[in-house]
Amino acid sequence: MARLVVHGGTPLHGSLEANGAKNAALPIMAAALLAKGKVTLRRVPNISDVWTLTGILKAMGCKVEYDGTGLMELDTSTLTTTKAPDHLVRKMNASFDIMGPLLAAYGEGEVSLPGGCNLGSRPVDLHIAGFRKLGAEVNSQKGFVRATAKKLHGAHILFPKVSVGATKNCLMAATVADGETVLENCAREPEIIDLANFLIAMGAKIHGVGRQKMRVTGVKQLHGIDYSVVADRIEVGTYLIAGAITGGDVTILGCVPEHLSSLLDLLKEMGQELTINEDSIRIQGRRPITPISVSTEPYPGFPTDLHPQLVALATLGSGTTTVTENIFNGRFMYAMELVRLGGDVRVSHRDVVIRGVKQLDGAPVDAPDIRAGGALVCAALAAHGESTISGVNFIDRGYQEIEKRLSLLGAKITRADFED
Ligand code: EPZ
Repeated sequence: MARLVVHGGTPLHGSLEANGAKNAALPIMAAALLAKGKVTLRRVPNISDVWTLTGILKAMGCKVEYDGTGLMELDTSTLTTTKAPDHLVRKMNASFDIMGPLLAAYGEGEVSLPGGCNLGSRPVDLHIAGFRKLGAEVNSQKGFVRATAKKLHGAHILFPKVSVGATKNCLMAATVADGETVLENCAREPEIIDLANFLIAMGAKIHGVGRQKMRVTGVKQLHGIDYSVVADRIEVGTYLIAGAITGGDVTILGCVPEHLSSLLDLLKEMGQELTINEDSIRIQGRRPITPISVSTEPYPGFPTDLHPQLVALATLGSGTTTVTENIFNGRFMYAMELVRLGGDVRVSHRDVVIRGVKQLDGAPVDAPDIRAGGALVCAALAAHGESTISGVNFIDRGYQEIEKRLSLLGAKITRADFED
């Protein structure tokens, strides 16, 4: 079993180029099912979730050429089945992103209830309600969702709560439905905007991109395109926090600072020094780390996917920080692992209370999900002595070659196989 071995205490120095966003690349790959013609994608991150979705599309008969260096060629015209392979779908939540495009382009889809990070309950009821409004028949039995529709039609879909997943699926399905669809209380994440821009580039008619209300006028079909995926704001945020927690000086190039404004405001409030340019962010870690109070919210609020990493930073704060989790009711598994590293982290209901300590000390820890993994790597980089981090399979799902990229910044981190 692979583990990361970290010798902490070295301030990180240097710069890195941001990778493409996992949470944009995945729905964009799924949306290629809507295209009549080849799709070329650039800046596709070399992470295991991308390989999982590649495996799903290939198992369904699509052609996908990808060698992990960012360029991907897709041809979905050779699809042979609309039933997704269960064993792969269970690996990640985003697998369900193919349902909307399958329904819209092929009139049917069969996808098992998705797996992925255990962040508490992750139902797909809002996706299904949206498909039904668009005229589909949907039934969910024994863990499988089957959806059929001769032809989808326009509808007014008001989401009772903001959902990235349901917004993506209904948006994709509406692009080739008969008539106009209004999506209200949509998610406005940059990854949603990137997906909408990809769909528009393929010929879709979408108004209000990035707003809470989008209007989609269905078109006959979408065509192939060459598209570059947006920078990964969550990967960028994780590296900025690694720079701050080690008292280092790190610059991330090729990113979109405005996509991170909630985090950057917090880091300033925490006393960190930031230099923000059009497409780069430099952080210089400063002490003391000032305590704060923050809640996770849908975009443009503070993202739940940077919650564990921010808590890691706050463990070395000069007082008490509180983080309230409003998106996922089970996103606290990382807390006990930070306690193993010497952090004073307590969870009560949806609140995480962090009392700052003088130092963290290396220890064996286990990553229970992708972003928890990012947080444990940050904490281990600041801890005195050696840490070993298991659950690397989670980290690899969201972070491309994390140990190689951190080593470029001077971190003492390696990957090693351990007998279990
Ligand atoms: C997306 O998950 C991201 N995943 C998550 O990132 C991210 O944490 C989340 O959005 C919130 O920003 C991808 O983009 C692949 P939601 P998703 O639908 O689509 C509830 C990472 O580490 N809900 O916005 O699953 C749901 O249970 C991952 O990269 C319903 O009740 O998030 C949650 O409490 C982790 N019914 C809330 O809404 C539904 O049908 C938000 O979920 C759908 C969601």
